[in-house]
Amino acid sequence: MKLYDGGKIIFGLIIFLGLITIPFYFNAGKAVAPPKPKLDTPVIQALAVKECVKPKEIMRAEHMRILDDWRNSVVREDDRQKIVIGGKEFTKSLQNGCLKCHSNKKDFCDKCHTYMAVNPYCWDCHFTPKENKS
Ligand code: HEC
Ligand code: HEC
Ligand code: HEC
Repeated sequence: MKLYDGGKIIFGLIIFLGLITIPFYFNAGKAVAPPKPKLDTPVIQALAVKECVKPKEIMRAEHMRILDDWRNSVVREDDRQKIVIGGKEFTKSLQNGCLKCHSNKKDFCDKCHTYMAVNPYCWDCHFTPKENKS
């Protein structure tokens, strides 16, 4: 094998290695821990006890089911009885319940959903809070 062929092969190998590792460079910033949902909203700050509808671990795993239950009781059974969290009354509602406290939808719901690649279709109909930050 002549030397200049060797040079070409090495050159080719460098290009090849560069190309197959591109996906790693693009993912470098993403391969981090899941986002930590921000709880820093005016309504949550004002709560005497920083509680959700259920304990945090249950909320993480079951919040979709709670929303389903709320919708069923409101829409099907016309049960709009308020729920009490930390001594305050809240409405069984997406916009006027969850998002009253979690008014930072983009930093809270959306961040987590984007990371987990879920895209709830609720916002086709339900309003989202006005937010300045993106
Ligand atoms: C096709 C339009 C539409 C979509 C999509 C939709 N909803 Fe609704 N939703 C409604 C309507 C209309 C009501 C009745 C509002 C009322 O009576 O107060 C409602 C009521 C609710 C309620 C109880 C009251 C309230 O104001 O929040 C909850 C909770 C709810 N929906 C959750 C959800 C969730 C969670 C999703 C996504 C998984 C979703 N909805 C998707 C139209 C929709
Ligand atoms: C009274 C205000 C309030 C309401 C209403 C509320 N939350 Fe929360 N939520 C909180 C607080 C405070 C925490 C943090 C709880 C903790 O640290 O134990 C939390 C935690 C959570 C978490 C877990 C976040 C994490 O760190 O992993 C999820 C998910 C969540 N809420 C979703 C919802 C959904 C969905 C609704 C409506 C069904 C809702 N919340 C209604 C105040 C509220
Ligand atoms: C800690 C991360 C996290 C936070 C914060 C969070 N979600 Fe979720 N959410 C998820 C995951 C993960 C799923 C998918 C679960 C599954 O498919 O079993 C999901 C699913 C859902 C679904 C069902 C969507 C579907 O297509 O099945 C709804 C509705 C929903 N979330 C609403 C909310 C709302 C409203 C908030 C903010 C108040 C919120 N979530 C905050 C992680 C989160």
